[in-house]
Amino acid sequence: MTGKHGFVLGVDLKPIEPFTQEYIRTIVADLTEPDIADQILSFLPRRPDVVLCDAAPNITGVWEVDHARQIDLATKAMVIAQNLLRPGGNFFVKVFQGDLLDDFILHVKDAFEEVKIVKPPASRSKSSEEYILALGLKSGQSETNENPA
Ligand SMILES: C[S@@+](CC[C@H](N)C(=O)[O-])C[C@H]1O[C@@H](n2cnc3c(N)ncnc32)[C@H](O)[C@@H]1O
Repeated sequence: MTGKHGFVLGVDLKPIEPFTQEYIRTIVADLTEPDIADQILSFLPRRPDVVLCDAAPNITGVWEVDHARQIDLATKAMVIAQNLLRPGGNFFVKVFQGDLLDDFILHVKDAFEEVKIVKPPASRSKSSEEYILALGLKSGQSETNENPA
């Protein structure tokens, strides 16, 4: 979707099958590592317009555990988004429904102008998964360097 004028960096614990397009790169990394934002930035030509996180932990089947782990990953992704996004940038992240979700959404609302809960058609209706769409990183939430690389 970005086309060759954009750049996409994929991050996963497991190797991702390489893409043929030269503007798509992937790295193996853990998004919970403390220096992950710097690692990601070192591969980017500029601050990103969008941070999109579909990461999910291995499912245990214990609902409270899976929900808490998912919110923890989503929280880590939001810190990455706040550190990396250009001012006004957008963030999209997978969450599981549960007790911790409202607090997480409040944090996202503090940082972004507009926040919506989205259930894409591709997500099974019986699944507790849904996505938070956060538009417009508020000023003061991002470094302002245009080209930090
Ligand atoms: C639902 S799958 C994502 C599928 C992907 N969107 C796709 O279309 O192929 C969740 C992924 O999150 C990754 N993941 C889980 N914890 C992670 C972490 N701490 N850091 C990076 N990736 C992680 C898993 O390795 C897994 O590939």
